[in-house]
Amino acid sequence: MKKTIFAFGVSVCFLLSLVIPSGCFYDNEEDLYGVASCDTTALSYKSDIVPILNAYCYTCHVPNSGQAGATVFNTYAQLDPLVPNVVIRINDPISPMPPTTAVPLPDCERQKIKAWINAGALDN
Ligand code: HEC
Repeated sequence: MKKTIFAFGVSVCFLLSLVIPSGCFYDNEEDLYGVASCDTTALSYKSDIVPILNAYCYTCHVPNSGQAGATVFNTYAQLDPLVPNVVIRINDPISPMPPTTAVPLPDCERQKIKAWINAGALDN
């Protein structure tokens, strides 16, 4: 009886191996290397950075946001002198921006802000 069950088990395994393709890999660039589609080249303040700030920062960093101490930077002229602080705060593990209570800044958006700043933080 044991032999029959064993033989049955073996044949089920054999049949399954025919049905289930052995190359069950689902590797894609995103899983292996992070977000593959994060393009950090030729970034524009108006079309790339403002939408990010709008989604993740302007809830607080605009006039009358009700957020005490949140310096207003919804114009380029206001943001420009704050650029060194922006780099620090978006990477700050202790006092991060956005604060932990707000929507977190995704890695690609963080990379884009950094890349735009590294390229000279232009009003482009
Ligand atoms: C939920 C509200 C909120 C959001 C969202 C938010 N901040 Fe802030 N931020 C504050 C407050 C309040 C302060 C002042 C207190 C402090 O420094 O922690 C501040 C301070 C800062 C400072 C220091 C300002 C200065 O005068 O030196 C920078 C830079 C900054 N935030 C950048 C950002 C950026 C960039 C984002 C978006 C990626 C962001 N913040 C999103 C509330 C917010």
